[in-house]
Amino acid sequence: MVFDATDFSPNPIEQARRQYAGTYIDLTSSNPTTQDLLFPAHILQQAADQYWRQRRYDPHPHGLAPARAALIDYYAQRSPALQLELDDLFITASTSEAYSLLFALLTQPGDNILGPDVTYPLFQYLAELHNIELRTYRLDPAQRWAIDQESLLDAADSRTRAVLLISPHNPTGMVVQQPVASLTQLGLPLICDEVFAPFTVAAPHVPPLGTLHPELAVFHLNGLSKMLALPDLKLGWIALNAAARQYAERLELINDTFLSCSTLIQTMLPTLLTQGAAFQHAMVNQVRLTMDYALAQSKNHPRLQLDRPDGGYYLFPRIANCHDDEALVIDLIAQGVLVYPGFFYDYTEDCRIMLSCLTKPEVFAVGFERLCSALSRV
Ligand SMILES: Cc1ncc(COP(=O)(O)O)c(C=O)c1O
Repeated sequence: MVFDATDFSPNPIEQARRQYAGTYIDLTSSNPTTQDLLFPAHILQQAADQYWRQRRYDPHPHGLAPARAALIDYYAQRSPALQLELDDLFITASTSEAYSLLFALLTQPGDNILGPDVTYPLFQYLAELHNIELRTYRLDPAQRWAIDQESLLDAADSRTRAVLLISPHNPTGMVVQQPVASLTQLGLPLICDEVFAPFTVAAPHVPPLGTLHPELAVFHLNGLSKMLALPDLKLGWIALNAAARQYAERLELINDTFLSCSTLIQTMLPTLLTQGAAFQHAMVNQVRLTMDYALAQSKNHPRLQLDRPDGGYYLFPRIANCHDDEALVIDLIAQGVLVYPGFFYDYTEDCRIMLSCLTKPEVFAVGFERLCSALSRV
């Protein structure tokens, strides 16, 4: 169990990172505030001023009504639109917190939920904090990381309480674009993490999962961290489709227990969503251009096998002729470029690395060139 861990010593990749600190280019950052992707300060200031002028603490267990109304507008503009009512929304301090509230809502210790076998390493910790098991279904790399439906059915048992989906998925970028028959067959509540929804690449859009599966209870999770590059301002939310309304009363009690999201950022939300559109558009465009650059540069590379992802801001290329991704990453650090190995995401089928296209374009270009030439040598 992760929370029984007693060994906190740095792993070999961290040791190499420390040894070569200052000499390598980092292609792993997911932090927009260190990559010059700074949400316009004047909009933040203007949005905050509204609160300081009429400051008042009057919390609501769902979150402030004007903030929820702004989120209703956001979902009405998605493709296809998801029609929501005010009581379908719960505002939290982050998406991670939203997961925790849903695990408390849907599970008892000893229950399990199903999640993808390749994954950003957050859910295992959350599951263990709630004393539940995270069982995995397979994402198939040969099918653009589509959900392997048989593995989904096989993973479920009598103590399975929900299925977790990430669309666009981190780090593969996979977007669920069609209904998934085995989800309907299981009939379980779905927790769908859409934090990368604005970042479409090969997929034309990211359908809110509730529009693909109106017959199932769907909890959509999102927040400002990725959407508007505001991880420091701490606002996330849960949006319930009509079939999930049966859970609203209990979720209200759970959210009311914490009321974690500050009134300041909730008051700012409507302004940030409307006035942040141009910034978001530019950020999404920059990520796409960086991906285009990487795809063009690596087109005929003998070892780096890269596909255009459906969405998200990561690349997860396969590295041919490699049998140990940890040794590869350590070697790459020594040669001046930091990437993450596939095993950080529980991917062990073959050798892959993760690159973040949130990286400043000029830095990405130098790092990617180093990566391509190092891989030709290694
Ligand atoms: C797929 C996914 N979900 C959730 C989060 C966390 O989001 P938040 O900052 O809203 O907790 C991350 C952060 O990287 C993520 O990659």
